[in-house]
Amino acid sequence: MSSTEVIGEFKSVTKRFGATTALDGLSLEIHRGINGLIGPNGAGKTTAIRLSLGLIKPNAGKAELFGFDCWNNSYAIRRKVGVLYEKLAFYDHLSGLEQLKLMAKLKGASESLVELKELLKLVELDEAAHDRRIGGYSAGMRQRLGLAQALLGNPELVFLDEPTSNLDPLNRAKILELIAFLNKEKNTSFLISSHILSELERVCDNFILMNKGKLLRQGGLEQMTDKTATTKFIVKVQPIGSVVALLKDEPYVEDLSTVDDSLQVTVSDVGLFKQRLPLLIGQAGASLDEVKMVKSDLEAVFKLAVEEA
Ligand SMILES: Nc1ncnc2c1ncn2[C@@H]1O[C@H](COP(=O)(O)OP(=O)(O)OP(=O)(O)O)[C@@H](O)[C@H]1O
Ligand SMILES: [Mg+2]
Repeated sequence: MSSTEVIGEFKSVTKRFGATTALDGLSLEIHRGINGLIGPNGAGKTTAIRLSLGLIKPNAGKAELFGFDCWNNSYAIRRKVGVLYEKLAFYDHLSGLEQLKLMAKLKGASESLVELKELLKLVELDEAAHDRRIGGYSAGMRQRLGLAQALLGNPELVFLDEPTSNLDPLNRAKILELIAFLNKEKNTSFLISSHILSELERVCDNFILMNKGKLLRQGGLEQMTDKTATTKFIVKVQPIGSVVALLKDEPYVEDLSTVDDSLQVTVSDVGLFKQRLPLLIGQAGASLDEVKMVKSDLEAVFKLAVEEA
C-alpha cells in the first residue's frame, strides 16, 4: 500500500561500539507501507534495526517509532512490532509449535493453538514439521518459523533483517508474496533489510539507502532512480510512428525500439520523461494506452551513490 504516512523517524542518530561508529548522525523516515533498507555490508542496517527495537541506546540523537522514543519507551514499541533477526536463534530441542508458543507467551500474544497453527500455515511451514524438533529443520524452514515468530500478535510494523538470504529463488518469491499480501490485507508495515535489490524493487514503496552509518538517499523508486540511473519504460500508444519520431529528438532518450505494438524507451531522466511524454503524444495527435516502468536500476543507484560517498 503506497503511502507517505511517517510512522518512524531517526534524527541524527549516532551509535558507537568502542572505536567503531556504526551510525553516524543517521536521519531517516520509516513510512507506513513496505520500506527497503539497503546499503553495503557494515553500513549499519542491523544496528539501525536493533536501535529501533530499543535493544541498544544511541550515543546521540533520537529515534522514534509511533511517536515513542525507541530507547525510553521500548516496551510500548515492542508490543506494536515484530522482528526477524539476521541471525536466527531458536531453542533447537523444541518443536516449531512449542517455540512459537513460548515466544507468544513472552510477547503477550495469543497462545491459542488454533491461531498458532494458522500462523504456521500462513508462512507455509508443513504441518508435519509443526511437532518436529527445530534442530532438524532446513534453513528455509527456520526462516519460515522466524517469520511466523515475527508476525505473532499482529504487529503494526515488522522488521525483517535479510529475510530471504537463506532461501532458494522459489521460496524467496513466496516470502515476498506473503509480505505484499500482509501489507495489502492487514495493512502491516515492513522494514526489510536485504542485499537482493531486484526483489525489494518489486515490493517496496520506500527505500532507505545508507552507507557508513549515514543516509545517502531516501524515497520511492522513482525518486531513487531519478537522474542517476537509466530507466526503461514500455509505452503503448496509437499510432506509434509519429511518437517514435518525436521521442528520437529528446535529449534524455538513451534507447528507443518498437516491439509488437508497443514502444520500449530507455531514459536517463525519469522526471523529465514523464513531464514531456504527454506533450509529445499530444503533439503527435496520438493516444496513450499504457505506460509501464520496466527496469529501474536500483542496483545502479546503489553502486553510484556508494561510490560517490
Ligand atoms: N555489537 C557490536 N560491537 C562492535 N561493533 C559492532 C557491533 N555491532 C555492529 N558493529 C559494527 O558496526 C558496523 C555496522 O554493522 P551492522 O551489522 O549494523 O551493518 P549491516 O549494514 O547490518 O551489515 P550487513 O549487510 O553485513 O549485515 C560494522 O562495522 C560492525 O562491525
Ligand atoms: Mg546486517
